[in-house]
Amino acid sequence: MAEIRNIVILTGAGISQESGIPTFRSEDGLWEQHRVEDVATPEGYIRDPDLVHRFYSRLRKNLDNVKPNPAHEALARLEKEWRRGSVTVVTQNIDDLHERGGSKNVIHMHGELKSILCKECGAHTRWEQDSSEDSVCPVCGKKELRPDIVWFGEMPYFMEEIDSCLSRGSLFLSIGTSGVVYPAAGFVRTVNRLGYPSVEFNLTPSLQNSSFTYSVYGKAGVTVPDFVSRLLESGSIDFLKKQS
Ligand code: APR
Repeated sequence: MAEIRNIVILTGAGISQESGIPTFRSEDGLWEQHRVEDVATPEGYIRDPDLVHRFYSRLRKNLDNVKPNPAHEALARLEKEWRRGSVTVVTQNIDDLHERGGSKNVIHMHGELKSILCKECGAHTRWEQDSSEDSVCPVCGKKELRPDIVWFGEMPYFMEEIDSCLSRGSLFLSIGTSGVVYPAAGFVRTVNRLGYPSVEFNLTPSLQNSSFTYSVYGKAGVTVPDFVSRLLESGSIDFLKKQS
């Protein structure tokens, strides 16, 4: 197997589940007691901007009640201690648990709760407090702020940067994502075309499972720290068993 240098890690809601943040795809089809169409689409926002501001303000405030778990911390350790190349976390999550866990190299492809987007001037501003239709953009002074979240039907952020990371990678990890939402769900196939190994960490096989070289099942808070320790120790992933 080729030597591992740059590592690209895709994370989803499953990595934050053990911190107490519910995942998106619950059995009742609701996200935090709301219909996805109401709180995670541009149409829902146009229909009821006040509801959408209140929804994300509540999630933002809830970040004070949660903390990073051993999976977030293990990825930060990997970034700090990996000497053979870079470690980049590409997250679909809008929480700040990777950063608070110690990761520095984090790409938020679906936006961030602690940021706000101005529809007027396009500025992304760090935002810690509640937001409403009356909130004022600190850059242009207009009351045109919306949550800085990539909703269904919108283009994820940083796609060029992510493509470039993937093309320079030599190991791809995917942690706690159901593999339903594109383009993130398609990254493993890009990696396959590029010809380097991939590992899925989940409780059960995701929708993209058959595209991965290896799978590790169990809670990310247990499996990821164990994997990171072994990878740092040996510099390789030879300890994993290939899927047939
Ligand atoms: N450890 C590992 N995996 C877990 C854990 C855990 N403790 N808990 C849950 N999972 C797995 C689930 O099995 C599931 O496959 O995490 C995955 C979570 O899937 P989703 O809820 O669909 O979240 P995600 O894949 O991040 O969703 C992608 O969809 O709603 C949009 O924009 C939103 O970023 C989100 C995107």
